[in-house]
Amino acid sequence: MATTTNQIFIAVIGAGGVGKCFLSQLATLAARRPTPKLSLCYISSSKKAVFNADYSIGIENALQELASSSKQPLSLPQLADHLAAAPSKAIVVDNTSSQDVADAYPLFLSRGISIVTPNKKAFSGSYKLWQDIFTAAATAGSKVYHESSVGAGLPVISTLKDLVDTGDEVTKIEGVFSGTMSFLFNSFAPVEGSGGQWSAEVKKAKELGYTEPDPRDDLNGLDVARKLTILARLAGLPVESPTSFPVQSLIPKELETVSSGDEFLEKLPGFDSQMEETKAAAEKQGKVVRFVGSIDVASRSVKVGLEMFDKSHPIAALKGSDNIISFYTKRYGSNPLIIQGAGAGGDVTAMGVTSDLIKVLSQIA
Ligand SMILES: NC(=O)c1ccc[n+]([C@@H]2O[C@H](COP(=O)([O-])OP(=O)(O)OC[C@H]3O[C@@H](n4cnc5c(N)ncnc54)[C@H](OP(=O)(O)O)[C@@H]3O)[C@@H](O)[C@H]2O)c1
Repeated sequence: MATTTNQIFIAVIGAGGVGKCFLSQLATLAARRPTPKLSLCYISSSKKAVFNADYSIGIENALQELASSSKQPLSLPQLADHLAAAPSKAIVVDNTSSQDVADAYPLFLSRGISIVTPNKKAFSGSYKLWQDIFTAAATAGSKVYHESSVGAGLPVISTLKDLVDTGDEVTKIEGVFSGTMSFLFNSFAPVEGSGGQWSAEVKKAKELGYTEPDPRDDLNGLDVARKLTILARLAGLPVESPTSFPVQSLIPKELETVSSGDEFLEKLPGFDSQMEETKAAAEKQGKVVRFVGSIDVASRSVKVGLEMFDKSHPIAALKGSDNIISFYTKRYGSNPLIIQGAGAGGDVTAMGVTSDLIKVLSQIA
């Protein structure tokens, strides 16, 4: 195959909720922008893959081909070799939540392969991995973008980078970073009305598909802590890991070790009084309780947990499962720059991934 600079090869790892929506957006993008030609050259789930010697897979039929494929995925070093040997530059789109794939970013980047991803693992794991990723990219000239790793398609990371790069001083970042926590607290402690029982709201959130299969994976606060780690690092704080600052878990101690999510939900009503007390204490002050993350840049402190807010505060007035992120900066003064909207969902998350892809294309093609 002849080398061409007007073609970019795209390898998609992960074809779940976000991966499927991304493929549909990629098909539209490839049709709308003929140059550079966007060629899907690899797609994989955890067990299957599609790839061939001429680096060409039809985007429209990729999911059917994947479903009927008998090929196993390449190992990550094999995939790096395959892409480095492509006739033109390649981009890996990691739509998994895999730590193994995240750990391979420095390898891909050092071989000139760019990365776009909604996967939080690489940017919220050890600080060494973060440094290895950005050093590899800077050295090889490859690009790495991860807008959807915080707030799905909301322009959170690009906004923070723009604030920092243009010389504004970010003093504080505060917000509701989890759609699940947003939904739970907006219905448990609404601004108007009394709200439901805590355990009943958790059960409802699970039934509506807002929680992980085991709701404890949302209630432990780690997902929010990972997002805070990413933003704190971008704001210039060398946070070591998502467990290196205070994170409040909403899992009662006694239920930490029960064996299943179902058993947890069964036993949770026995602990409703703890959350009721918190709600009543806030109500007494005319406030509501919310699960938030905050980064105080000046005091270098990061924390995740319950806070009380006046009912007129934008965080209190959030609706449904929306996210809200407020940037307090020197330029914006006492009225923060606020970003708000859906922080989860396949289509909006894929939008962040596709817009990152467009940014990479504008720099490498
Ligand atoms: N969904 C959202 O609203 C949302 C919002 C923001 C960010 N994100 C992030 O977006 C990413 C994808 O989320 P999702 O909801 O699409 O997850 P998902 O539906 O569980 O899909 C994950 C996909 O990755 C594949 N996979 C897992 N490990 C793999 C590996 N080692 N190699 C190759 N493929 C692998 C899975 O394959 P199998 O099917 O074979 O297991 C599956 O196709 C995650 O990092 C998530 O945190 C999602």
